[in-house]
Amino acid sequence: MRPTSVDDLDDTQIEERIQQLEQRLAREHDRMPSGLVHRMVEYARARFAHARIRRFVPILVERTVRAHLDLTTGAAGRSGPAAAGNGPRPYSMPEWARVVAHRLLSGDLPRRWAHTQGVARRAGEVGTLFVSTDREVLVAAAWLHDIGYAPALVRTGFHPVDGARFLGASGVPDRVCALVAHHTGAAAVADLLGLSGELARFPDERGAVRDALWFCDMTTSPDGEPVSYADRLAELRARRGPADPVVRALAVNGSERAAAVRRTEQLLEHVETRAAGRSRCGY
Ligand SMILES: [Fe+2]
Repeated sequence: MRPTSVDDLDDTQIEERIQQLEQRLAREHDRMPSGLVHRMVEYARARFAHARIRRFVPILVERTVRAHLDLTTGAAGRSGPAAAGNGPRPYSMPEWARVVAHRLLSGDLPRRWAHTQGVARRAGEVGTLFVSTDREVLVAAAWLHDIGYAPALVRTGFHPVDGARFLGASGVPDRVCALVAHHTGAAAVADLLGLSGELARFPDERGAVRDALWFCDMTTSPDGEPVSYADRLAELRARRGPADPVVRALAVNGSERAAAVRRTEQLLEHVETRAAGRSRCGY
């Protein structure tokens, strides 16, 4: 016979409560990209998998997921009662990423928000190099790459890791989290800061999409304007100073950064050359 009091919840009852919670949260936040609420719930649930008092697990999961929903889109994730059944469509991942970056950066860090908008714009242009799934991942990662600077997310003080950890707990697909974690030479900086172990939780895909994200970041000024890679490097050295780990890490990752930028530029040139060839042939 099944226990009936709250004190005696068994695993099946906990499972039912969490499923009901997930359905309720998904209804309340019906603009979330597909699967996001489910992954948030799963992440929180794993965190409390070994809780000693089992009956508290659904409450702890709910509290954790609501805190994340609040920090990410808040009320913007809901259609609202007036629009029930006929409200705005759910966000795509890049749209969700834009809303989250705006919420976390625009108030506290307006210059960082200006830079982020510029990087995302660049990613939208460069994204034409890729198939639609890769393009969505690139643009989402561009919006999210610097959210680890947001005061509410600072844990280690190293923004690629803080951002990626928060995104993982927010149900964001692993690939986007990993791109954020490894953006623009993060590994060498993590090494200097003693955070390589934290970073190693995320795989570095080392492909053309990852190169493109580095390119977008390294050819966008702190104010969001397009700049050359050389100008961006000079600005970075001047603004941060020689003792800053990001500048010190350039001795290790400078050539890797330059190579990622060069490979993306070559891809862009290749596409432009083919397009020019087609227009000459009258296609
Ligand atoms: Fe950036």
